[in-house]
Amino acid sequence: MGKRWPLAVGFVAGLSAVWLGLATGHDAADQWSRAARWTARIGLPIFLLTYAASSLGRLWPGGLTRSLWQDRRWWGLGFAACHTVHLYALVRALDAKGEERTLASLLPGGLAYAVILALALTSSDAAMRKLRRNWKRLHSAGIHYIWLIFTLAYAGRLMNADTRPEAIYGVGLCLAALAVRIAAWRKGKRA
Ligand code: HEM
Repeated sequence: MGKRWPLAVGFVAGLSAVWLGLATGHDAADQWSRAARWTARIGLPIFLLTYAASSLGRLWPGGLTRSLWQDRRWWGLGFAACHTVHLYALVRALDAKGEERTLASLLPGGLAYAVILALALTSSDAAMRKLRRNWKRLHSAGIHYIWLIFTLAYAGRLMNADTRPEAIYGVGLCLAALAVRIAAWRKGKRA
């Protein structure tokens, strides 16, 4: 069953990011835009803990990594909760800015939300039993797709001097987590 507190951690982190955005923004558009950015920024490490949990456990077996591995479902659900807050904040941001978005620009992120929902809804022992090998396929493809959307979102901010610091933070964390997964995979092949 594992411990459920990471779910609360994700939700509270998302709400805190919104609070910070609302407390520091100059007007509604700026407040919700900050809330959207900061919910994504705080959601990223929570997502990456889920993404790298089993690899961290394989590379560095120990109490902390074992409990992260065992509870990774709840960390994943914590990320889903945090990113649901991102969805709310970005809808408010787009509304306050009066920005029109084309369907094409909404597609990659929209699909990522469909993936997050599918992963969250199948994060149970019953779903694992029912989907069997397809469960692993769904979760493996889904988690890599979310990683890709995060990486691309931050990589796109690298070219702009104003957004470069957060882009380095995001791309750096994403690549570090990928490196951990590759190292664990190579260790598994050698064993
Ligand atoms: C259709 C769905 C989505 C829309 C319309 C959307 C929209 C937004 C908006 C409006 C911002 C704030 C931009 C700004 O004011 O600078 C933002 C930031 C961001 N979003 Fe989303 N988003 C979506 C889905 C996602 C998903 C699924 C992910 C990740 C898996 C994601 C990751 C990010 C990141 C990394 C940032 C930048 C955070 C930072 O500055 O540190 N977004 N998004």
